[in-house]
Amino acid sequence: MTRFPKLEPLGFDPTIPNQARIYDYLVGGKDNFAADREAARWALSVAPELPMMCREGRRFLERVVRHLAGRGVRQFVDVGCGLPTQGNVHEIAQAAAPGSRVVYVDNDPVVVTHARALLEDEEHTAVIEADMREPDQVLGHPRLKSLIDLGSPVAILLFFALDVIPEDELASHIVGRFRDAIAPGGYVAIGHTVSDLRPEATAGLADLYQSRSVVTGHAHREQQRTKADVEGLFDGLSLVPPGVVYIPAWGADAGQDTLDPRAIWSVGGVGRKDA
Ligand SMILES: C[S@@+](CC[C@H](N)C(=O)[O-])C[C@H]1O[C@@H](n2cnc3c(N)ncnc32)[C@H](O)[C@@H]1O
Repeated sequence: MTRFPKLEPLGFDPTIPNQARIYDYLVGGKDNFAADREAARWALSVAPELPMMCREGRRFLERVVRHLAGRGVRQFVDVGCGLPTQGNVHEIAQAAAPGSRVVYVDNDPVVVTHARALLEDEEHTAVIEADMREPDQVLGHPRLKSLIDLGSPVAILLFFALDVIPEDELASHIVGRFRDAIAPGGYVAIGHTVSDLRPEATAGLADLYQSRSVVTGHAHREQQRTKADVEGLFDGLSLVPPGVVYIPAWGADAGQDTLDPRAIWSVGGVGRKDA
């Protein structure tokens, strides 16, 4: 496959808006600076629904993790984990299944420092700084290997992480390498914003991020992937019902998925690796 250029280390500069900290601001966190808040306000002028979408994204994550814990999964790798917020993966997993092990992965040193301070415990939870564009290095990280047994089922969580990988071939490579590395009975879960429903919002945000040089260490697509593109990322996995759907509908109890999908232009799904 094509070789993709390596990312420059992100470093830390509070005067340049940063994707993880903008997201933190949108979910009501405090780990952000004036430049992040200003960029977030610009983003909100293009898509005022962003905070609601972020909250729905976290609710989707919670339902998926509970579902997987209920299916016996005890090991989780949260790739592109973002700054700690309410309802982190290990809290959900360990409440459902005490002893579950969770490794958080992000390439942003600020995220990693905060997450280590708040989330790490020697026995069950680790935070590693690694680039998901190199899935083999993520899985080969010594700290991950000390907690996660790849011979037993693992859930790889890619919640709103592939959104920042503009190259389709690379996104498929990332999912494919994780899929190949996990044991049968493991899962890959994806949440992804899509352009189908509000193309003007996703194009507007891409322009904005380009023009305001949000530090994400990547180029933005002109448009986000479509729902069909996201379905394609589950190649080689068996989609758990209801498949790839608008996230308020995934795992929702009857009558709960009343949100208009046009306001939550994100889809998600869970794929199982069969024997
Ligand atoms: C939109 S946030 C999603 C946070 C969280 N997964 C959630 O759903 O709430 C995307 C995260 O991906 C991280 N990220 C971006 N590029 C990455 C890369 N190449 N490798 C690892 N993490 C990356 C960012 O630092 C950011 O924290």
